[in-house]
Order: sequence, then structure tokens, then C-alpha cells
Amino acid sequence: MNVADSELVVSIMNNNGFNRTEDYKEADVVLINTCSVRDNAEQRVRGRLDLFQHLKKKRPAMIIGVLGCMAERLKEKLIEEEKLVDIIAGPDSYRELPQLVSIAATGQKAVNVLLSREETYADISPVRMDENHVSAFISIMRGCDNMCSFCVVPFTRGRERSRAPQTILAEVADLIEKGYKEVTLLGQNVDKYNWNNGEVNFAQLLEMVAQTNGELRVRFSTSYPQDMTDDVLHIMAKYPNVCKYIHLPVQSGNNRMLDIMRRGYTREWYMQRIEAIRRIVPNCAISTDIITGFCGETEEEHQDTLSLMEWAQYDYAYMFKYSERPNTYAARKYADDVPEEVKIRRLNEIIDLQQKLSLESHQRDVGNTYQVLVEGVSKKSVEQFYGRNSQNRVIVFPRKEYNIGDYVHVKIVRCTSATLMGEVAE
Ligand code: 5AD
Ligand code: SF4
Repeated sequence: MNVADSELVVSIMNNNGFNRTEDYKEADVVLINTCSVRDNAEQRVRGRLDLFQHLKKKRPAMIIGVLGCMAERLKEKLIEEEKLVDIIAGPDSYRELPQLVSIAATGQKAVNVLLSREETYADISPVRMDENHVSAFISIMRGCDNMCSFCVVPFTRGRERSRAPQTILAEVADLIEKGYKEVTLLGQNVDKYNWNNGEVNFAQLLEMVAQTNGELRVRFSTSYPQDMTDDVLHIMAKYPNVCKYIHLPVQSGNNRMLDIMRRGYTREWYMQRIEAIRRIVPNCAISTDIITGFCGETEEEHQDTLSLMEWAQYDYAYMFKYSERPNTYAARKYADDVPEEVKIRRLNEIIDLQQKLSLESHQRDVGNTYQVLVEGVSKKSVEQFYGRNSQNRVIVFPRKEYNIGDYVHVKIVRCTSATLMGEVAE
């Protein structure tokens, strides 16, 4: 989502006479897009700011702006804490950036952290920053109304709002014309996409995008267990170009944890959603997000997460230690009382299990042939390409006479827990 937002920012700045440079050392204006979801994301931004401290000493006229969730969360406080920062701009104020830069150029600090109920940047064509022009993100909605108790996003990105379908389809058409082969529809909770009081829901939008061009792969992220309908699954099954991959964050396998996380579903409900995916889209890959060591989590409750992972046979997972975020419901109500060493040990158990599950999932793929969309040259060898199959698996294979952006049929011959290796199938 931040990549997509940065592409909007580049577009807004370009339209106001600024050009992007590949070398930050020569920049007059440095804009840092930030994430607040866990404390370590914020610490990395602070580390990056330290790097710019030296540059700014040499070139005091350089303007430094902090954008996004961390700007929204800390507001003016961030300027007090990080003296080199000139601009603070929250996620709904990017149209104002050129004005904020003008203010900063006069030596004043410039802040805009107003959240909006309407802003979707629908009319702005993002300037793509990817190298290969194969796959692009399209933001279909902004904000989140879910209020999971651990999560800072509803505070930093504001209320949920959906972007007009015509503007999404126009962006898709533009990408197709530029030669893109894959789009990923983005939202904090895509299942809540809702244009004009139910006129277009997410299943309908997905179908509209799938119908634009059968050669265009369509992905989406993120689905929400409480809201994911069978309608969406039926559209996935109906259109070969809708990729067979769902990211369905579970967070915990224990009902008491899910309850105090305010996720709005139970373990049993979640399992029934996984069963629906397996039934309606049989060849679908499934990944998840897991938070370990949430407030008061016991050893048995942790075991429930492990057993659910084993049951669900996830193909992939993003796994995190709970990181308390100031002012969230959990921070106000519950003690962050699982000791750090216990969090680390549980996280390692979760990671070890997922490595086993990922390897098993890969081993099941050996011998199968998949249509792979070529995304680029492998980092390990210039003789090899890498790309993904519909299930979002990264596959490496000999490049031969193919080009980036081609669809190639590849037979899987070997695997590790991270990658599939294949040969071009005749
Ligand atoms: N601590 C740890 N992980 C978090 N996430 C969100 N908030 C927190 C937090 N406070 C994770 C969730 C979410 C993903 C994007 O980040 O798993 O799905
Ligand atoms: Fe955060 Fe929950 Fe919204 Fe995801 S659905 S962004 S975890 S509040």
C-alpha cells in the first residue's frame, strides 16, 4: 500500500514541476513514506532520518518530509523529536504536498495531518516505480473501519472509503495499454469495497476488472475472514485470469485471543471460510498473518495457533510478535504482559512450523506444470528468469529466448522452502 501511495506522491510532485531522482544525495526534497504498524517499522524510519542528518548538515536547504502513518500518528511531535524534519503529511494530504514544500522552502515547518472521509486520489494516475512494467498495484479503497484492538491503521489511515469503479477500470485500461500483465487490487479490507451504497461490491468489481482482458492477471489483497463472501470465491473460480491466491489473516487460532483482538470471528468461523475456499476454488493457495504473544496469551492459547496453522496447511505466512501501539484499544485496556523472550520463542515455533508447511506445499508442486508470468532476471543467475504462477509462488527457470512479461509454461523439478525451480515445458 505504501508503494502505491508513493507512486501517487510522485505523480502529484511531477505535475507540480518536480522530478524524481534515483540518487537521494542530489535531492532538494526528500519525502519518506512511513509505516506505524509495529514499533520496529518506526525505528527503521528513525534510522533513515539519522542518515539524512549528515546530508542536511552539508546542504541545509534540503527539505525533508515525513509522509504516511507515522506522520499521522505523531503529528507535530515528530518535528519536536526529529529536528531535521520540515514537513509532516498524513495519508490524506498528499495533494497539498507542493504547497507544503513551498512553505518549508521559506524556513517554516509545514504540517497537514487532516484525515478525509472522501479522499481516494481517484483522478490521479500513479507514476509507476517498478522496473519491469509487468505488475502494478491499484488502490481501490482507503482507510479501515474494523478497529482490531492491536491495530493503529484505523487511526492513521482514517475511515473506510471506496474509489469509483470507473476510475479503477480506467487505470486498468491504461496499464494494459502500457503493456502491464498483472494488477493487484489493494485495500486494507477489500471485502468491504462498497461503491455508492451497495451499487458495486467487491465481487462485482473483481468481475469487472477480470473481464477487461483475459490476458491480464488480477490479484487482490487483503481479504478479511469476517467479510469474505462466497460470491468473491465464485468469481475467482469462474475467471482463469483471477489468480488463485488468497491472503486471509487469522492473527490467532484461539477464540479468547480473537475476541480481545476484536476480530469479530471465531476459530470455527475462520475454518469454515478456509473450507469454503477449498471447496469453491480447489487449486487456491492460502497465506495468512499471525501475531504471537498478544496480551495475556497463555501457552495453550499459543498451541491453538500452531494447531490451526497445521490444520489450514498455509502455503505462506507473515508472522509477527505483538508490538503494542500507543492509544489503540489493546494498549488502553490490556497489559502487554507476555515477556519478550516468550514472544521470541513462540514466534520461532511459529516460523519453524510454517517453514515445514511451506516446504510441504512446495513438494506437492514438484512435477506439476504452471503458467508463469515472467517478472525479471533471477538475482542468483543472469541465465535464469523468475516469475510467479497463479498461486503466487515464485518459480525460477532457464530464460532461453523468453522475455520479461511473457507467459511461459514451466514444469517444477525441484524446490526449497522458499523457491520452486523448473524447466520450460514443451
Ligand atoms: N503488532 C504486531 N503485528 C501487528 N499487525 C498489525 N498490528 C500489529 C501489532 N500491533 C500485523 C497483523 C496485520 C499485519 C499487516 O500486521 O498481523 O495483519
Ligand atoms: Fe488493522 Fe484490523 Fe483494519 Fe487490518 S482489518 S487494517 S488489522 S484494524
